[in-house]
Amino acid sequence: MSVTELVPGPFKVLSVVGARPNFMKVAPIVAQLQTRPDLFSSVIVHTGQHYDEKLSKVFFDDLAMPMPDVNLNVGSGSHAQQTAAVMAAFEPVLLESRADLVLVVGDVNSTIACALVAVKLGVKVAHVEAGLRSFDRTMPEEINRILTDQISDLLFTTEASAEDNLRAEGVPADKIHFVGNVMIDALLTHRERARALKTPTALGLQPGAYAVLTLHRPSNVDDAATFERLIEALSPIANELPLVFPVHPRTRRRVADSPSAARLAERGRLRLLDPLGYLEFIALLDGSRVTLTDSGGIQEETTILGIPCLTLRENTERPVTVTSGTNVIVGTDPERITAAWHRIKREPVTAARPPLWDGQTARRIVDTLETVFTVDQQRSA
Ligand code: UD1
Repeated sequence: MSVTELVPGPFKVLSVVGARPNFMKVAPIVAQLQTRPDLFSSVIVHTGQHYDEKLSKVFFDDLAMPMPDVNLNVGSGSHAQQTAAVMAAFEPVLLESRADLVLVVGDVNSTIACALVAVKLGVKVAHVEAGLRSFDRTMPEEINRILTDQISDLLFTTEASAEDNLRAEGVPADKIHFVGNVMIDALLTHRERARALKTPTALGLQPGAYAVLTLHRPSNVDDAATFERLIEALSPIANELPLVFPVHPRTRRRVADSPSAARLAERGRLRLLDPLGYLEFIALLDGSRVTLTDSGGIQEETTILGIPCLTLRENTERPVTVTSGTNVIVGTDPERITAAWHRIKREPVTAARPPLWDGQTARRIVDTLETVFTVDQQRSA
């Protein structure tokens, strides 16, 4: 079937997914678009940036999301190769689709690649999760965020800091729409289904008596010595609570070569798992005593689940998770990590739900699209 045949509706929204953290952001928006078939038609394009079943297909099943209409199958490569491959493959698909709007989410290479193709073809771009800044330009995601925001027409933000950042970069206020966090829509929709899986018990873990660990940032996992120091820094926590570590493919070789990881695993203090599906992972987080991570999205999910989160980075682009939520930025210094863990044991965490993280974000996004399209139509009539 050609892409043109798939998009009969009046306003054609083409949503892009590429990597694992994109699926749970696009799913609620597509579901919301589908409730207004008289106004919108929806096409999903998967760039294929993530292609392993455990990083990709399982999410469509878990999130009850329609399978992609088109898969560009670009796969892995250097940043330039991957970004260029997405652009070259996406351009003819976008032309054929004659979409009215391209919706991109987050900060992965697929996000900037598809936004750039769309803007040059004169197609409107909406960026969901706009304006977040770590102010660390060594992170590939920071470059993707800055550039995507500069070329997008509609910027949907999750927290107040994002609007401040965008305004400071000269983005006009009328492009910015504070709608809340769409990933939390997915979390609230699926939390009970996730809990029902009883994943901790199924894995032989006692709820509330283990820690979850995730690591995949290049700055933490690409260099063997850095990774080794980080695992050693986590050993005091591992001696108190088993660390459960679903290992991202990027991190796999590093773990296999790490003497500290091998020692902890031998003593049963580190439990290595393959990447989990969305529901299983939410269930695992929800049952944990503490979560240790360098992911962005997990800082947000733990805030809503009320699970203490220690972020193993020097900064966060999601400051509301620190000011309102359960997140503490500890970097990779062993003393800071241990001190933060002792504080968690002494004082129960208190978390307030950040404004508009209420499960209604997709509705607000699609309401905004409806208004924008209606105004456009009136202008051109
Ligand atoms: C990407 C995103 C990152 C996001 C992360 C979530 C960018 C710049 N980075 O990082 O922001 O937090 O996804 O997972 O877009 N690989 C596989 N199977 C796959 C995909 C990748 O084995 O399905 C391996 C390959 O060896 C690849 C490596 O993982 O080279 C890294 O993949 P890549 O897509 O480049 O970036 P991530 O580290 O996954």
